[in-house]
Amino acid sequence: MASLFAFALTLYFSYFFTLSSSTPNFNFTTDKYALLAFRNTITSDPHGLLRGNWSSNISFCNWIGVSCGTKHRRITAFNISGFYLGGTIAPHLGNLTFLQSLDLSYNSFTGLMPSELSNLRRLKELNVGFNSLSSTKIPSWLGCLSQLRHLYLNNNTFSGTIPLSLFNISRLQTLDMCYNFLDGNLPEKIANFSFLGTLNLAGNKITGSIPNGLFNMSSLIEINMR
Ligand SMILES: *[C@@H]1O[C@H](CO)[C@@H](O)[C@H](O)[C@H]1NC(C)=O
Ligand SMILES: *[C@@H]1O[C@H](CO)[C@@H](O)[C@H](O)[C@H]1NC(C)=O
Ligand SMILES: *[C@@H]1O[C@H](CO)[C@@H](O)[C@H](O)[C@H]1NC(C)=O
Ligand SMILES: *[C@@H]1O[C@H](CO)[C@@H](O)[C@H](O)[C@H]1NC(C)=O
Ligand SMILES: *[C@@H]1O[C@H](CO)[C@@H](O)[C@H](O)[C@H]1NC(C)=O
Ligand SMILES: *[C@@H]1O[C@H](CO)[C@@H](O)[C@H](O)[C@H]1NC(C)=O
Ligand SMILES: *[C@@H]1O[C@H](CO)[C@@H](O)[C@H](O)[C@H]1NC(C)=O
Ligand SMILES: *[C@@H]1O[C@H](CO)[C@@H](O)[C@H](O)[C@H]1NC(C)=O
Ligand SMILES: *[C@@H]1O[C@H](CO)[C@@H](O)[C@H](O)[C@H]1NC(C)=O
Repeated sequence: MASLFAFALTLYFSYFFTLSSSTPNFNFTTDKYALLAFRNTITSDPHGLLRGNWSSNISFCNWIGVSCGTKHRRITAFNISGFYLGGTIAPHLGNLTFLQSLDLSYNSFTGLMPSELSNLRRLKELNVGFNSLSSTKIPSWLGCLSQLRHLYLNNNTFSGTIPLSLFNISRLQTLDMCYNFLDGNLPEKIANFSFLGTLNLAGNKITGSIPNGLFNMSSLIEINMR
């Protein structure tokens, strides 16, 4: 009995240890470091929004574009929509593990969306629309963001087919991928999105027939596939 208990205890501790060692101990400092790393890869800030506002003698929670949670003071929303920033997206943003909303739309970001963003498991909204992000396919790691409700990848230069992993995001309400260079067909799996209200695939090169399941999706309000 005692040995069984000890065995169970060992199991418990090894589980706990594995869990805590694989989950980095990110904190307030990590978030600030991530913002500074993000600023370092910005090559153009025509209105001086980050240069002028992100000053080190003010808590980063009060920097323009940044919102923190009231209790733990970790960043919960990052919105720099329409700042006209140019450069690449630093992978360090993937360390903002409390982020629920990330809006980078209406900038001039180039290159890839860093795969580190797949660590943002609390993310409900991701908007990278109206940039110059490119990739030969929509990154399949987006399927890891299981809490996502709204996904905007529109007006970029993504090409290739829609990855099947995307259909794992069961709570998705908005999927906007218009004005990219996507091809292939729209899979039947689209019907798995039982909360999908908006589907915008206009301005791509999607071919094939419209999946039958699409007509059974009672949540759909708006479809655009011109
Ligand atoms: C916060 O994280 C940084 C970097 O990971 C670490 O150096 C620091 O000790 C941590 N601070 C606390 C209070 O946990
Ligand atoms: C930074 O921007 C915020 C939000 O616009 C503003 O409240 C704050 O006063 C600005 N701080 C500085 C130092 O410019
Ligand atoms: C922050 O520091 C700069 C330069 O050291 C100074 O000009 C500015 O007034 C300070 N701002 C605040 C809000 O203390
Ligand atoms: C980000 O800010 C813009 C401009 O203030 C606003 O229109 C947009 O709704 C915000 N995005 C999110 C996700 O709240
Ligand atoms: C945050 O992310 C970057 C790049 O993804 C990494 O190099 C860095 O060590 C990470 N950790 C902390 C605590 O900043
Ligand atoms: C999005 O991109 C398409 C194709 O370049 C363009 O026709 C459309 O006007 C863009 N939408 C906006 C609002 O800029
Ligand atoms: C996500 O979808 C892919 C492809 O459909 C599948 O192989 C994978 O196991 C799924 N992952 C999760 C976490 O559901
Ligand atoms: C889609 O739904 C079907 C049936 O509802 C289910 O068997 C399948 O696992 C789902 N696929 C994904 C990728 O969630
Ligand atoms: C759509 O709904 C009808 C009626 O409920 C059902 O017979 C049909 O199998 C459904 N089609 C798909 C593709 O789910």
